[in-house]
Amino acid sequence: MGASNEQKIADLEQQLVQMRQQLMQAEKMSTVGVLASSITHEFNNILTTVINYAKMGLRHKDEAIRDKSFTKILAAGQRAAKITTGMLSYARSKGDHKERFELAQLVEDVLVLVEKDLQVHRISLVKNFAQQPSSVVNANQIQQVLLNLIINARQAMDEGGTLTITLSENRADQFAEITIRDTGCGIPPQVLPKIFDSFFTTKTADESGHGGSGLGLAMCKEVIESHQGRIRVESAPGKGTAFTLKLPLAKGQTGFIHSESINKAG
Ligand SMILES: Nc1ncnc2c1ncn2[C@@H]1O[C@H](COP(=O)(O)OP(=O)(O)O)[C@@H](O)[C@H]1O
Ligand SMILES: [Mg+2]
Repeated sequence: MGASNEQKIADLEQQLVQMRQQLMQAEKMSTVGVLASSITHEFNNILTTVINYAKMGLRHKDEAIRDKSFTKILAAGQRAAKITTGMLSYARSKGDHKERFELAQLVEDVLVLVEKDLQVHRISLVKNFAQQPSSVVNANQIQQVLLNLIINARQAMDEGGTLTITLSENRADQFAEITIRDTGCGIPPQVLPKIFDSFFTTKTADESGHGGSGLGLAMCKEVIESHQGRIRVESAPGKGTAFTLKLPLAKGQTGFIHSESINKAG
């Protein structure tokens, strides 16, 4: 009797682990859904560029114009490849593997996916990447966190606004910090304590067909805590909100690394 109860508990625990993973994957796919329309539009623009320059190259025999056409077509193709690669690598589930990454790189990879969405919603982007901290992370999970925070920020800025992403390193407590600040609606103080709860959402299903699952921030918190990090929020209703992620700095951090010196060393 006792043994079979233990077995049942072990089975349930196993099911719980699987369901959490499925929920996380579902949350990830819903992000892809939010971005699908802006990415499709961007592909349309890229195709327009490719088609128009291909026509121009065919029409004109002189070398300078053909060179220009090929250059434009190449750039458009490379942009498209960057987006599809980003999308595929984001959608893939890579298990629990952690590696050292420059956080700026992770942020840039996510921005490839959301840039158009921000543009469509008249949101300007400010990047403060003067410091280049590295951290040992599961890149895929951290990107999911960043994407969630950026999409939340965008959804809070109905009338447009500014999204500011700042990277910094706090040498004193050995944390790398990523701050995502918006100039959106803000969060009322009575709501603030609930936002990290699973299934808490203020978003209604009808607005642009995408309601909130209320799982985004719960997932963010879980991922950041599994990295021995912290997630913090500050908000002023009517002014905006800032989320700060703290992740342990990778050992051997030299501070202001310039890509030049990295290239020379490598
Ligand atoms: N940047 C933000 N500005 C204003 N409110 C926010 C912001 N981020 C999160 N929230 C609030 O926290 C709630 C929970 O967020 P989240 O867990 O991502 O779920 P969802 O986005 O599915 O609603 C949101 O419904 C919203 O009320
Ligand atoms: Mg969300």
